[in-house]
Amino acid sequence: MEVLGIDVGGSGIKGAPVDIKTGRLLAERYRIKTPKSAEPRPVAEVVDKIARSFNWKGPIGIGFPAPIKSGVAMMAANISPEWVGVNADELFTKVTGCDCTLVNDADAAGLAEMSFGAGRGQAGTVILLTLGTGIGSAIFHSGHLLPNTEFGHLDMKGRDAEHRASDAARQREDLSWKKYARRLNRYLLEMEKLFWPDLFIVGGGISKQSEKFLPLLAIETPIIPAELLNDAGIVGAALAAKP
Ligand code: BGC
Repeated sequence: MEVLGIDVGGSGIKGAPVDIKTGRLLAERYRIKTPKSAEPRPVAEVVDKIARSFNWKGPIGIGFPAPIKSGVAMMAANISPEWVGVNADELFTKVTGCDCTLVNDADAAGLAEMSFGAGRGQAGTVILLTLGTGIGSAIFHSGHLLPNTEFGHLDMKGRDAEHRASDAARQREDLSWKKYARRLNRYLLEMEKLFWPDLFIVGGGISKQSEKFLPLLAIETPIIPAELLNDAGIVGAALAAKP
């Protein structure tokens, strides 16, 4: 079955049709810059533009950087506060004329990695963390997702962990890989203490450079980079769409 997967991010909104049996993109992805305000209507119009570029009439899955309950964004840390309380499923469905399903962006990436990437066949407890503008999280047990975990907002010395250990924090503070690894290590130790996972998967743009910081970490749990890199959000959003 084919589903259009769309990943809404702080800087870009990208999408492509996905074969949800194989996890393969069926066309080159199309990316449009996120509108400056990132408010509901302009973002919905971009999603519509992407759908129209593929002449899309079928179901659409949309990964979104917020916890999502029954199509509604519950909180907005890295996106316009205008989204909170909006039934985004309905808005996107109305604007595109296609059946749209929203899912948290990290949950989407996790679903894709568990089905087709680094988490394939992994039993036990797996935690995927996307290190980007924020920190997104997805936790699986025996392959089942517990949706909407927000581990990026765990407290780290009086601030949200994502303000200290995301890739954006590394760049903003111009941290060396060594210093960044030390911070990330602190965060991962906290996660270990709380969840006792069997595996961590690191996603987000930074996973392309995983050899620079993963070897510097000193934690008990095995930690590996995501495999689908840029496509995980699109593929996972498609997987989350209503059939
Ligand atoms: C949001 C999460 C999201 C993550 C990555 C956080 O600030 O609260 O819902 O998954 O950023 O985009």
